Amino acid sequence: MPAETLDQIVSLCKRRGFIFPGSDIYGGLQGTYDYGPLGVELKNNLKRLWWKHNVYERDDMEGIETALLTQKYVLRYSGHEREFVDLMVDCKTCRLRFREDKAQDAQCLKHPKKHPGECEGQLTEPRAFNLMFRTQVGPIADEESFAYLRPETAQGMFINFKNVLDSTNRKLPFGIAQQGKSFRNEITPRNFLFRVRELEQMEIEYFVYPDDAPRVHDEWITDHMEWWINEVGLDREKLQLFEHPQEKLSHYSARTVDILYKFPTLGFDELEGIANRTDWDLYSHSRDQDKIDASPNTKKNAVQNEHSTERLTYFDDETRKHIVPFVVEPAAGVDRGVLAALCEAYDEETLENGEVRTVLRLKPALAPVKVAVLPLKKNAPEIVEVAKRIKNTLQSSGQMRAVYDDSAAIGKLYRRQDEIGTPFCITVDFETIGKSRDGDESLQGTVTLRDRDTMQQIRLPIEELFTYISERIR
Ligand code: GAP
Repeated sequence: MPAETLDQIVSLCKRRGFIFPGSDIYGGLQGTYDYGPLGVELKNNLKRLWWKHNVYERDDMEGIETALLTQKYVLRYSGHEREFVDLMVDCKTCRLRFREDKAQDAQCLKHPKKHPGECEGQLTEPRAFNLMFRTQVGPIADEESFAYLRPETAQGMFINFKNVLDSTNRKLPFGIAQQGKSFRNEITPRNFLFRVRELEQMEIEYFVYPDDAPRVHDEWITDHMEWWINEVGLDREKLQLFEHPQEKLSHYSARTVDILYKFPTLGFDELEGIANRTDWDLYSHSRDQDKIDASPNTKKNAVQNEHSTERLTYFDDETRKHIVPFVVEPAAGVDRGVLAALCEAYDEETLENGEVRTVLRLKPALAPVKVAVLPLKKNAPEIVEVAKRIKNTLQSSGQMRAVYDDSAAIGKLYRRQDEIGTPFCITVDFETIGKSRDGDESLQGTVTLRDRDTMQQIRLPIEELFTYISERIR
């Protein structure tokens, strides 16, 4: 049985050490979460798969990592100071504050079965609320010396367009990829990792000739849809595309298509947005805009840039002209990716004996621990010695996270590993050390290898373990 509610995932994450509420021992800080020992492995595995697919396996990408603290002009000319707002409404009766467009998801405090506005409470007029966090930079606190915590990783890639171009001699089309934290002062953070105030993103800015943008946009949509299915293991039936209506597009976008995932409790909601950002950002961050020959399809920022020192253009060898490339942007949330992977993998299976086992059927490449080595008896020194040696050999290959565990009976240890998604368990027993009661010597030097999904066990010689497992977790 798959997870029916997000609460099942939240509870597993806390119990097993994937994800904890932020600042918990002081009562928490809403919209923040800490990744625990297993959560950080899962998250890093997801990011590694994304980087491999989008940077290493292509010839047209460069990766960068830019500062989180961002100069105010970057976010002024990007349009964020003016446009990165949500409409906020207060209930005058119960003092609840919520996003106007999410009123249907909120509950009235006094009448929980009703939504704000449906009860007798009076609502204020909607007010614009900017979602960017400001912070003081340097020792003098005045109105001028503030910076923003970036609300998207994207701007770091736009303002470095020239640096990357000049240092790599790239030709169009090419892209820049980045993974990292972003910050949004969400009015109502909710639904666990789904809407947080400190989030992580995996974004690409892919620069193309303006006329190519619509075709390239479609190619990225297909490519990333397939990536979520094939690499992360999401069910095709639980994914949908959503075309943003023209009147609701972000200020920079000519077209945006979201990849939605069917989360328990929430239903279909956004996992990744893929936008045609036109030349909005490069043009907006450029000096001397009146001297730039922009495309006729341009989505120009009306605000003239007075502070930039650079023209973010590309010299086309064929036409001998400077052009402003268009940008296609696949932008995914790491935390939402982790949440989707957990929801997809969660399964409660009723066994023949009526017992229910919880199993995380994560793709092996995503699993935080690849293999657990378990001694059948923890007070048999020879068994323990062999088990620890196997664990150390597998772990020191550098290719898999292996753990040794002797803290419970074998059945309980299997259940624990099932629940955290470990694809393989190795058990070292009396046969392994040549001391079985029925004296089957042919099994000496072999161990049992148990498969998480089928629970089937096979016997393998110790020397074959590494090859067998590494082929299956790749
Ligand atoms: N640079 C474009 C951009 O940032 P976005 O649709 O606002 O676009 C991209 O964000 C992705 O970041 C979303 O698809 C979502 O997965 C993730 N994301 C955005 N806000 C989030 C939040 N408050 N909490 C968790 N993830 C979020």
